Amino acid sequence: MGTVVLGTGSCLPKKVLTNVELESMVDTSAEWIQTRTGIETRRIGGKGEKTYQLATKAAEKALAAAGVSAEELDLVVVGTISSHMLMPSSACYVQKELGATNAFAFDLNAACSGFLYGLDLADKYIRANHDMKVLVIGAETLSGRLNWQDRNTCILFGDGAGAAVCGYSDSDRGVIGSSMHSDGSLWKLLYMHAPESSNPDLIVKGNNGAYIQMEGREVFKHAVRAMEDAVTRLLVKENIDKESISLVIPHQANMRILAKLVDRLDFPQSKVFINVSKYGNTSAASIPIALDEANSSGLITQGDTILFCSFGGGFTWGATLIKW
Ligand code: ACO
Repeated sequence: MGTVVLGTGSCLPKKVLTNVELESMVDTSAEWIQTRTGIETRRIGGKGEKTYQLATKAAEKALAAAGVSAEELDLVVVGTISSHMLMPSSACYVQKELGATNAFAFDLNAACSGFLYGLDLADKYIRANHDMKVLVIGAETLSGRLNWQDRNTCILFGDGAGAAVCGYSDSDRGVIGSSMHSDGSLWKLLYMHAPESSNPDLIVKGNNGAYIQMEGREVFKHAVRAMEDAVTRLLVKENIDKESISLVIPHQANMRILAKLVDRLDFPQSKVFINVSKYGNTSAASIPIALDEANSSGLITQGDTILFCSFGGGFTWGATLIKW
C-alpha cells in the first residue's frame, strides 16, 4: 500500500559524442576513457534540447504511459543542477509546457541524487494525501557546465532526462522505504561555482567558472562507501534480504564505481541494470533514464522489488526500495 510509479519516460539529445571525437578536443585517448570509466558515448544537447525541453519530452512520455493528463498533476519536481535559467526553475518551465495548470512546481538541487530525493519527496506527499499525482523528473545538460579543456571531468558526463509519474495504490505495491543522506563538509571534492556575484562583498575567491570541478579518486572512494552503506542500512531497516531484490538500478556514474559497488554488496551482475557505456554520467537524469529503459524493455514485472541507489555532489546519497 503506498506510492507507485504509474508511468516512466525519457528523452536523450540527438547528438552522440564518441570517445574518439573527444581525442581531438582534449588531451585524452579513447582507450583511457573506455578502460577507466566504461563510457563509450554520451549525448550532447543541441538546439531545442535545453534541460527543461528534454524534461518536458520525458514527462510527456511518462504521462502517456501512466494514462494521466497534465491537468491531473498536483506537483512537478525537477532534480537538476543545469537549468538554463536560475529563475524560473526548470520545473516551472515544464509545468507551463505541459499545461499542468493545477500543479505547483520547483527544482531540487541534489546533484546526481536529485531524482531519488524527488522520489522520496513524492512518496511523503502522496502518503499524506492519497489523491496527489506527482511528476518527478531528473534532467541535465551538463555539457554546458563542463570545462572542455579539463580531461578529468569533461569525458565523464552527458545530457538527458528521465521522468516518473507517481500516485497512490491501495494494493500491496509501492515505495517500501528509503535511506537519504548528505554531508556538506566534503563539498570541495565535487563542486560547481555559481556565476560570479555582482556584489563585490560576496565575490567568491577562486571562482574560476561555473564548471564541474572534482577530485576524482576521492569521489570514487566516497561514492562506493556511501552507496554501500545506504543500501545496507535500508535492507536492514526494511528487513529485506538481498535475494528478494529483482533488479538494482544504480546511479550510472561509471563502470568502475558500479563494478566495485556490486562486488562489495555481493549482488549478481545479472540483476544490475547498467547503461553508462551509452550515455555517460547524466547526473540527476541517470536513474530515471535507466528506469525507463529497464521498464520499457520488459525487465520489470509488477510485484518486483527494485532497489535504487545514488551518490553525487554535496555530498548527497541514498537508496530507495520499491515494490513495483
Ligand atoms: N585521459 C587521459 N588521462 C587522464 C584523463 C583522461 N581523460 N583524466 C585523468 N588522466 C590522467 C591523470 O592526469 C593521471 O595522470 P598522472 O598519473 O600523470 O598524474 C592519470 O590519468 C591517473 O589519474 P587518476 O585520477 O588517478 O585516474 P583514476 O584511475 O582515478 O580515474 C576517474 C579517474 C575516472 C575520474 C576516477 O577517479 C573516477 O571514476 N572517479 C569518480 C568520479 C565520478 O564518477 N564523478 C562523477 C560525479 S560523482 C558521481 O556521479 C558518483
